[in-house]
Amino acid sequence: MSSLVVFPFKSVEVDLVLRNLTIAATHHAVEEVLGVGTEGATTAIVAETAGAIESETDTRVSVAIQERIGIHRPGKGDAMNTAMRRFLDSSHRYLHFYDADITNFDHDWIDAAESAATGGFDVVRHYFPRASTDAMITWMVTRPGFALAHPTSLLWRIAQPLGGELLMVRSAVEHLVSDPRVAERSDWGIDTMITFATVAAGLDIAEVFITDGKQHSLYGSLEDLRLMVVECFAAMASVRSAPLLSPGRYHVDPSAPAGDEVTTKVGYSLETTLPLLTDGWSDDEVELAVSVPFGHELVRNRDSIHFEFADGDCWREILSGLLDLADPANATWQSVIFRFWVARVLAYTTTTALGGHGYAMGELETLVSDYAAGAV
Ligand code: LAC
Repeated sequence: MSSLVVFPFKSVEVDLVLRNLTIAATHHAVEEVLGVGTEGATTAIVAETAGAIESETDTRVSVAIQERIGIHRPGKGDAMNTAMRRFLDSSHRYLHFYDADITNFDHDWIDAAESAATGGFDVVRHYFPRASTDAMITWMVTRPGFALAHPTSLLWRIAQPLGGELLMVRSAVEHLVSDPRVAERSDWGIDTMITFATVAAGLDIAEVFITDGKQHSLYGSLEDLRLMVVECFAAMASVRSAPLLSPGRYHVDPSAPAGDEVTTKVGYSLETTLPLLTDGWSDDEVELAVSVPFGHELVRNRDSIHFEFADGDCWREILSGLLDLADPANATWQSVIFRFWVARVLAYTTTTALGGHGYAMGELETLVSDYAAGAV
């Protein structure tokens, strides 16, 4: 009875990946550690060093190139799906995933997950405090989208539906591998789809709290998140009408207030973000934007910066409109949804987020519950 720990990685510092592989390999419950990367320099260097970590820790450590499994952009989803298939070929009991960029990874992460799994949960998700202007896809797209589309489900309650830190037992992985919606999702939408598929199947889910949070580097301009916004929205929208079984057992560890590391962190640069609203509008974008509630407000950015309209109430209508019109393969749709999201994030950053970390988190949580209550 043993565990496999997997780190999908791409553009992350080699030393950090190696450090995390080593930490995982020294945990007593871990029998194998696997890095899954794309073909390239980082993967080659990590693969070269894996043998040394293996001899040093007496635990199997290897690196695999991610297979082409899905139908969307080849990305993190292909890496996770590759790892899930390898896990099923092994005899390990638990599969852990951790993002390779965690700078404070330690045995506590593994312990917390193993202990909930031993307690009978099929899926154990880590959650942790995040800066008030971090997690802007989670807060503005995934959780509110799930609240509107599946208001009576567990889906919108999951604290970090895009989280890459989780454990799954063998039967949960078997279920995910047999679900074509998961296999197809080769891009950033994989985390959303795993969350959806595990909740929809009525699996027993626990959320464990990691007090120190996940220290990782934050973003420059919101432009860095464009692909992720579009792909996470697409994944969420693709299951907006999908049926769900009744929920399984659900447990959430209580959270604790965030430390200074998190509360004082700024999520992204405002200055480089503003042009994303004002620049480069095409006629097609204008036409599509004005067919969505408050689209006339958004297109005013062609003349001068304008985002104050995008408060929580108006976002409910915008999000519903965007869900109705979802056309993820269309570049115009992608650009419009991204601009709406930028306006919403800026409106929130310059109002609610100024109230301090605790206040902002409370407001976001209330907003998501209100969306769900209003959609029932
Ligand atoms: C989120 C991404 C940005 O959770 O990490 O929203």
